[in-house]
Amino acid sequence: MNLKGFKWALVTGASSGIGKELAIQLSKKGLNLIAVARDENRLKQLAENVKEFSNTQIVTYPVDLSCEENVKSLIDDLSNYEIDLLVNNAGFGLYGEFINLELNELERMIELNVKTLTTLSHVFGKKIAMKRAGGIINIASIAAHIPLPYFNAYAATKAYVYNFSLGLWAELRKYNVHVLCVSPGPTETRFFERAFKQKELNKFGNRMNPKDVAAGALRAFEKGAVLYTPGFRNKLISFVGKKLVPDRLIVRVLGG
Ligand SMILES: NC(=O)c1ccc[n+]([C@@H]2O[C@H](COP(=O)([O-])OP(=O)(O)OC[C@H]3O[C@@H](n4cnc5c(N)ncnc54)[C@H](OP(=O)(O)O)[C@@H]3O)[C@@H](O)[C@H]2O)c1
Repeated sequence: MNLKGFKWALVTGASSGIGKELAIQLSKKGLNLIAVARDENRLKQLAENVKEFSNTQIVTYPVDLSCEENVKSLIDDLSNYEIDLLVNNAGFGLYGEFINLELNELERMIELNVKTLTTLSHVFGKKIAMKRAGGIINIASIAAHIPLPYFNAYAATKAYVYNFSLGLWAELRKYNVHVLCVSPGPTETRFFERAFKQKELNKFGNRMNPKDVAAGALRAFEKGAVLYTPGFRNKLISFVGKKLVPDRLIVRVLGG
């Protein structure tokens, strides 16, 4: 599906990492942006950056999307915008022994990674379907494809994103709405700072550049791909994890 006909994109988690790169590359392709994340300063920097190379519009919307009331307000405030592309990218992970993670943080992760993504897909998916043109890009993870001890609940949220996106693709294609699910592997972003709380930051080496992940995702969307895993190594891990090795063996080995 060609992005050229699209006017407005709503990108969650646009203040850093993969979401920021997606926002920049979408504005280079001529789309106006609604950029959402918590950090107002980073969003302002993004807006200044975009204005340097593009005449497109950018609306920044600082908000915590792990809170249901905020998501409702966002939806109300955007009621006059005709969104053509929804990018559900905001998300975070929590690494550690499940029973020792902060319950409050776990709940916020599930709220953001699963519930907010579902709510936004419902509201904007419906609006886009009524226009009979547009798309949704959901950012999952290669963690979606394998049970991952110590990244357990995070991997489960991403398995939800993966299965939800595939089913949604099948439902929405008759409305000319294209859904793409992106499953990045380790990528050089702020993700690790938050997931590991500064400890063991080097646990996942060989990280991809978020620019390449974003560029690949947009290419995959334009080609009409349903699933996109950036990078050969990540494709191989997904394939081996999903198809070749039994889940019970994976959890035994990774669980230690
Ligand atoms: N990096 C990786 O290795 C990797 C691998 C697989 C999948 N992913 C997925 O890729 C997506 C993007 O992450 P990233 O790697 O680019 O990490 P990142 O640099 O930490 O970016 C995460 C984005 O989400 C936003 N965000 C986090 N919590 C939020 C909240 N409560 N409300 C609103 N916005 C929030 C952050 O902005 P604020 O902090 O300003 O709110 C930021 O813009 C996530 O869904 C992540 O799970 C990442």
